[in-house]
Amino acid sequence: MASNFSLPKLCKNALFSLLLMFMVMVVAAASFQFNVGGRERGWIKPTGNESETYNEWAARNRFHVGDSLYFKYENDSVLVVNKTSYSKCSVSNPIFKFEDGETVFQFHRYGFFYFISGERGHCKAGQRLIVRVMVHPAATPSPEPAPSPQGDGSGNEGGGWDSFWGPPPPNSTIKLTVASYFMTALGGMLVIMYLLM
Ligand SMILES: *[C@@H]1O[C@H](CO)[C@@H](O)[C@H](O)[C@H]1NC(C)=O
Ligand SMILES: *[C@@H]1O[C@H](CO)[C@@H](O)[C@H](O)[C@H]1NC(C)=O
Ligand SMILES: *[C@@H]1O[C@H](CO)[C@@H](O)[C@H](O)[C@H]1NC(C)=O
Repeated sequence: MASNFSLPKLCKNALFSLLLMFMVMVVAAASFQFNVGGRERGWIKPTGNESETYNEWAARNRFHVGDSLYFKYENDSVLVVNKTSYSKCSVSNPIFKFEDGETVFQFHRYGFFYFISGERGHCKAGQRLIVRVMVHPAATPSPEPAPSPQGDGSGNEGGGWDSFWGPPPPNSTIKLTVASYFMTALGGMLVIMYLLM
């Protein structure tokens, strides 16, 4: 009993649909890395004739959990601080301090993040940045993680990793969501394969 449809053509269509599915999934689940200050300027004390401040740049972008910031700098540093220290440009007791010249900072939770330069006078000159991180689209269908003790992150106590990121790592929810997408896709692929055999 030879079927009269062309198997290769069906195959192609199925593969094409699968490819599309994967592309949509990848886009939905992709994490982005943002270059702070653009590729050329980087993280540097503003001279005053920049086309936009770091915060104007941040306002133009949308940041999600899982995304990261890339800071490129020389003879400078990146301090992660709380809201109070941010507004005062206070460099004492930051939550995190980086001075390796190339810092990738990934957002493990949503809320506000405050960055300032640790160099004298740089923050006051405008080398500071507020980033508002939103829940990743791929993570929205899952139940909301319990609110972290510091609320929107502005009331951080300055104590290490745990109190900053909070106990429930939102990252794992995303990984699970991504994993379930892949499992679904894999299942779909198997069903299609089976139908074609
Ligand atoms: C203004 O920016 C230009 C490049 O865009 C630079 O060459 C110049 O030195 C800057 N002026 C000041 C005062 O920093
Ligand atoms: C960084 O500091 C070193 C040593 O003081 C100096 O040679 C270099 O020019 C500085 N780089 C910048 C971009 O200021
Ligand atoms: C912000 O951080 C500074 C420095 O660690 C600390 O002294 C201050 O109490 C913190 N403020 C809040 C509201 O957590």
